[in-house]
Amino acid sequence: RVLRIGLIPGDGIGREVIPAGRRILEALPSSLGLKFEFSDLHAGFETFEKTGAALPDRTVEVLRNECDGALFGAVSSPTKAVKGYSSPIVALRKKLDLYANVRPVKTVRTAAKPIDMVIVRENTEDLYVKEERTIERPDSEGGKYAEAIKRISERASSRIATMAGEIALRRQKIRDSSSSSSSIHSHPLVTITHKSNVLSQTDGLFRTASRAALSAPRFASALTIEEQIVDSMVYKLFRQPEAYDVIVAPNLYGDILSDGAAALVGSLGLVPSANVGEGFAIGEPCHGSAPDIEGKGIANPIATLRSTALMLEFLNEEDAAAKIYAAIDANLEEGKLLTPDLGGKATTEEVVQDILKKL
Ligand code: NAI
Ligand code: MG
Repeated sequence: RVLRIGLIPGDGIGREVIPAGRRILEALPSSLGLKFEFSDLHAGFETFEKTGAALPDRTVEVLRNECDGALFGAVSSPTKAVKGYSSPIVALRKKLDLYANVRPVKTVRTAAKPIDMVIVRENTEDLYVKEERTIERPDSEGGKYAEAIKRISERASSRIATMAGEIALRRQKIRDSSSSSSSIHSHPLVTITHKSNVLSQTDGLFRTASRAALSAPRFASALTIEEQIVDSMVYKLFRQPEAYDVIVAPNLYGDILSDGAAALVGSLGLVPSANVGEGFAIGEPCHGSAPDIEGKGIANPIATLRSTALMLEFLNEEDAAAKIYAAIDANLEEGKLLTPDLGGKATTEEVVQDILKKL
């Protein structure tokens, strides 16, 4: 099988870590029968300054017509609004209908308090439809106010819950087949997150549509389905993170929960994500362009390497993904070659070489 992968380094350390994703794909054993073709593509703030477009049309066209998946590094956002600039990854999610943002948060097995969860965030609607407006009123009537639309559809809620169910089944299959690893979850669990006690129509619809999707026989027979109000979930996420397996959430709660969960594992440099649609996935480390360490050669490449594996999972190459995860875990468990964000002294290059050797 030939997989065509678009590479979009973006800004800052994106350019230092995305090449590592390409190298690990090229280093996969030939027994897997996988070949890769790469397209170098542009997006980001520097691209905007050079060309006037943060997401050039060519990048979208090549991804749409010539790629099976992609890796996206990070982009810098100007601190003040710049006319004509808007985030290219947000635009890409829309243009390619990447309706799910999937973020696994996991420690190695040897961690004092092991965690192994995945947050599955709806990526197309909720408050992020960005339908906001400001209404001017005279001060005598209370002054101006602003409001925003929170849109929740049955279709999008059902679709994201179905993906969460599929991920929970796949995780269980992987656990069942890897005899050696002592998983912290004995039974697959999906937790539906909402605030339907207050927002009975919007979050209420998310809740009922998710429940309905997860009551399909293939899920109901294999998974435990729970639900939790989002604020109490934040509390438990920090007190008892090991309790969670798969979390499904509408866009805004999912955004906040997934950054919060990333804080549980010590460094942003470890946490991957994938933007997933029908038959297409973009792996994306969850960190930004990290201007404070740009150009020093010390960015942790693991978030990108894990994002590369995650992309492969959604392209149905689970065996290849498992090999990459195992090589990364071996590096972390050994703990000899770590970048400074993990308390080590190694460079990006040394960590990449160690992981390639372990692969
Ligand atoms: P950031 O994620 O770039 O950095 C936060 C802190 O984590 C910094 O101290 C950085 O050195 C460290 N860090 C991040 N990734 C690391 C890695 N791989 N290895 C070692 N240390 C790492 O977030 P920040 O500083 O808030 O934002 C910087 C720029 O990135 C801004 O322009 C922001 O808009 C953009 N950004 C872009 C994102 C994206 O492309 N998806 C996400 C978050 C921020
Ligand atoms: Mg975020």
